[in-house]
This record gives sequence, C-alpha cells and structure tokens, in this order.
Amino acid sequence: MRIGVLTSGGDCPGLNAVIRSVVHRAVVDHGDEVIGFHDGWKGLLECDYRKLDLDAVSGILARGGTILGSSRVRPEHLRGGVETAKGHVADLGLDAIIPIGGEGTLKAARLLSDAGLPIVGVPKTIDNDIASTDVTFGFDTAVTVATEALDRLKTTAESHQRVLIVEVMGRHTGWIALHSGMAAGAHAILVPERPFDVAELARVVGERFEAGKKFAIVVVSEGAKPRPGTMDFAPGSTDVYGHERFSGVANQLSVELEERLGKEARPVILGHVQRGGTPTAYDRVLATRFGWHAVEAVHNGRFGMMTALRGTDITLMPLAEAVQHLKTVPAERYTEAECVL
Ligand code: F6P
Repeated sequence: MRIGVLTSGGDCPGLNAVIRSVVHRAVVDHGDEVIGFHDGWKGLLECDYRKLDLDAVSGILARGGTILGSSRVRPEHLRGGVETAKGHVADLGLDAIIPIGGEGTLKAARLLSDAGLPIVGVPKTIDNDIASTDVTFGFDTAVTVATEALDRLKTTAESHQRVLIVEVMGRHTGWIALHSGMAAGAHAILVPERPFDVAELARVVGERFEAGKKFAIVVVSEGAKPRPGTMDFAPGSTDVYGHERFSGVANQLSVELEERLGKEARPVILGHVQRGGTPTAYDRVLATRFGWHAVEAVHNGRFGMMTALRGTDITLMPLAEAVQHLKTVPAERYTEAECVL
C-alpha cells in the first residue's frame, strides 16, 4: 500500500511519535510505502511531500513539534480544493491518507472522506476537547508544563505577597486549567464552560489574605469569560480561520483584582510553552498506539474513522461523530476541584 500522512492545525507534543509509529508499522510490518505531506492540508493541495522511510523518522520519538510542518487552512479553501486533492491522491497512487490533527483538521478529514477519499484520522490537541476519545496526546504534556510553572510561581507570589493570575490554553474547554490547577493546588480555577463572577473571585482571594495567607494563585483558561454584567470585559475578535482571538483575560483580571483588593496582582500568560518541547512518556505511548492502530485501520479498510482511546483500549470512531460536539468539563468535576468558581 501507499499511505500519505500529514499534520495539520496547531502543533502538539506527540505528533512526531505518531508519524514514527505509522512509518514503523506500515514499512516494517506491512511493506508499505509512506509519504509525508508538508505543512498539513496545504501539502496535499499543493502536492508538496517527501518520502518517509525508517531513516526519516529515526530519533524523532521524543522530539516536540512535527517534522512535517503544520499550517491551518481556511475551510472554504479546502472545500474549493476537494477535486484538486482527489487528483493528487490519484496521481500519487495513494491508498490512504492519515491526517493527524484537532477539531478543524478532523472536520476537514470528514469533508474529504465524504467526498470519497480513503481517510483514517488521528486526533490530537493539547486542549483535550475531542469528544470521541477519552484523552488526546499532548494534553498530559501541557498539564505537566503548566503544573511545573504553577509550582514555581507559588514561591515568587509568596515572596511578594501577590495574586498571580496564570492564563493557560483552552479555547473552549477548561481541561488544562482544571488539571493543572488541581495538581498545583490553585486557589481558584476559571474555565470557559462556567462564566465567572469577578466579585466572587475577589471574595475568595480576599478571604485567603484575611486568613493570614500571603499569596494566591488563580488559574484561568484563555477562553474563560465573566458572567455578563459582572465586569467590563473587552471582547475578542475572530481570525481568518474563524477562531476567536482572545482579549487577554489574565491581564484584565489582574487590573480588576488589584483595584478590588488593594493587593498587587500580576498576569502570567503561559502561551505556547505548553505546546512546545518533548512529550511526556504518557503522550509518547498514546501517540505511538494511535499511529499503530491507524495503519491497522487502513489495512482493514476502515475509512472515515479516527483512532480513539476508550478506557485503556484503542478503538475506532466515525469521523462524523468526532466533530459533532466538543468534550467540555462536566459539572461534577468542578465539585471535585473545590475551587472552580
Ligand atoms: O487548540 C490548541 C491550541 O493550543 C489552543 O489551546 C490555543 O488557543 C490555540 O491552539 C492557539 O493556536 P495558535 O496560536 O497556534 O493559532
């Protein structure tokens, strides 16, 4: 068989582990040929690719980023490029394409699959918000990086008796905030699923200082917003891919809390450090398993599906289901965390 692989959307620790696993399983065990498209769907649309043999994937298991490069493609550009993509797949003699990506990539994968292309998707995102899989690789690394940062920030916050508002990634869902906040013992966690009341936040933080504590750590997802009418909040804009461009919740909250509490408050925005660098052992294993099972799915003709983790097993889920809704943080998880406002 001849298999094309690509990585699309925001990068994520573990992408290289999937690529390596696909090549190992396909080339060594099945005698397949694998090519890698450069920069995501763009590479397929422009027929820009290279051959991936064992040498090409040597030493990449623990490397962050993606050796193939990644990019975002506007949905309308991809819709207009379906026939071009089909032509390139036919010209290259491809029997399957394995796109590795998040929500946007899987939506595109479904579009091309519905148009008749043989596709098996692999989900990735540090946000962990894809509904059909219990976990996506990249999430564990992001939580580990954020937790380490929070542990470090505690000591400097305490030295200066400050409130630190730490903004973590999480466009629509608060998984990274919830897990890193719980792991580091944050004093308040704000997530997009639950608009916050700034007066309540000020009360919680204020009571902590009144009780003699010297600092407070607030973890906030970049997509968290105040309850309407509870705080002046600058709205974000939308980028060319239809994604919300955030207006800086940590910056705005630090100004508001300083005013309300008379305590120094500083924003800390972790940003892309959560996505860069080497994946954790957990993410390497999950990514490797996804790659292995994606190749098996190709050989079993299970097109229009994506790999998914269910419990401890890897299974296949229809792409159609994967993109129907996001996996948000359920309300009972807030109770366990105690400090989700
Ligand atoms: O979806 C993954 C993610 O890391 C989000 O958490 C974040 O909002 C977004 O990507 C940022 O993407 P970029 O800056 O690469 O456009």
